[in-house]
Amino acid sequence: MAIPKLLVISGSLRKGSYNRMLLKEAQTAFGQAEIIEADLNFPLYDGDLEEAEGVPDDVKTLTDQIKNADAVVISSPEYNKGITGVLKNALDWISRVEGMPFKGKPTVVMSANMGRTGGETGQFMTISCLIPLQAHIVNGPMLCIATAQNEFDDNGALTNDHYKKVLSGKMDALRTAIA
Ligand SMILES: Cc1cc2nc3c(=O)[nH]c(=O)nc-3n(C[C@H](O)[C@H](O)[C@H](O)COP(=O)(O)O)c2cc1C
Repeated sequence: MAIPKLLVISGSLRKGSYNRMLLKEAQTAFGQAEIIEADLNFPLYDGDLEEAEGVPDDVKTLTDQIKNADAVVISSPEYNKGITGVLKNALDWISRVEGMPFKGKPTVVMSANMGRTGGETGQFMTISCLIPLQAHIVNGPMLCIATAQNEFDDNGALTNDHYKKVLSGKMDALRTAIA
């Protein structure tokens, strides 16, 4: 089989994001793959902007990346127990592009948060928001990294064996879904 293409999407824009660290760990756990990193730094969705200028080129780039990927891996914190504005805004823009790029696309969702539940509530909301886009949500074991500030070392590697095992199970499920 050709080397799979994985599009990784962080629902947090910040450079030092634990979710970016988790995406790196997911790449390692997945094994050989071509990795494309999404950039969700879009303007806020605004119907007037869309009417005046059309869908921004950066959004079109993302939808092409989704179409061309074999699978998508999303890692996002929850904000105030919900999906981050950054990720919701991206999904809203994506839904305005013809061709349903997420339709049937194997997609994994996971989360890392500083709180005690690891972003579980926001993760469910993210999955709900992907349903109208017809993503194929690959379940596998649920991965919510709680107290993320204690779970990564200085190089951004996961230190907790339990989380490593769950991540590995999740990536196994994704490989199976792609095959
Ligand atoms: C606006 C905002 C809302 C937050 N809400 C939650 C929350 O609901 N649950 C939680 O565990 N942590 C919450 N946090 C703390 C995040 O877990 C923490 O900032 C985390 O590092 C964000 O993920 P990142 O490292 O990938 O940026 C919130 C942080 C911000 C900035």
